[in-house]
Amino acid sequence: MKKPLITPPAPQGPDGAISPRHVAIIMDGNGRWAQKRGWQRIRGHEAGSETVRVIVRNCRKLNIPYLTLYAFSSENWGRPKTEVAALMSLLRRFLSKELDELLARGIRLNAIGDIDLLPENTRQALLGTMEKTAHLNDMVLTLALSYGGRAELLHATKKLCQKVASGLLDPEQISEEDFSQALYTHDLPDPDLMIRTSGEIRISNFLPWQLAYSEFYFTKTPWPDFGEEELKAALTEYSGRQRRYGKTGEQVAK
Ligand code: IPE
Ligand code: IPE
Ligand code: MG
Repeated sequence: MKKPLITPPAPQGPDGAISPRHVAIIMDGNGRWAQKRGWQRIRGHEAGSETVRVIVRNCRKLNIPYLTLYAFSSENWGRPKTEVAALMSLLRRFLSKELDELLARGIRLNAIGDIDLLPENTRQALLGTMEKTAHLNDMVLTLALSYGGRAELLHATKKLCQKVASGLLDPEQISEEDFSQALYTHDLPDPDLMIRTSGEIRISNFLPWQLAYSEFYFTKTPWPDFGEEELKAALTEYSGRQRRYGKTGEQVAK
């Protein structure tokens, strides 16, 4: 039997609130946060990396098993060279500084995106931290790096075409589950909740397949100012939503 693709509603938390199994965040607004203060954009990225630490810690505390952070998009390669280089160096520092924290809290690091495009030392730092945390199971932290949703869909399509060409797959039999399995996110459930900071109401090429039935939460707060209270507000809003998956309210209330 075909496995249903849509993630079923997540279990109830201890306080009776429905908590998401997978939270995905578009961490936007670092640059404008810094520029508003008359600072270089990179200072915003540095402040944003502190927010990452706070939010990872809080999600772990709240027993959210999957957290995915959009850290660098395929399109972000088009930014000025100095900003890209500063972001890559910040990522390297972040990975080495966070390793102990990840180990202590049982958090496995995962990455999605075209990792081969990262500078070699950044890629090695990433792979090293992933390897050292691969045995941990309390939470999966996925960084979307050099990630583009359309590129991911193309990559998956090519993988399936190769299977068809080699006679391993009948094109008539390709299911949504086969497609999901060919994506970078094959070992992750679909996000239940997608948060975007800083006021932009768009997904900017983030997880187009996986967000098909996710709940969206947009806030004007820039990422460096997003904290525990704001995370809790998003989770409270989520727990009040009725996820209908195309059915009627009465059907899903049963
Ligand atoms: C998000 O903040 C971080 C990355 C895209 C790397 P931005 O750098 O996009 O900040 P704004 O949107 O310009 O303020
Ligand atoms: C999306 O933010 C990418 C990340 C947060 C990594 P952008 O700032 O790049 O998005 P656009 O260009 O404003 O849509
Ligand atoms: Mg932005």
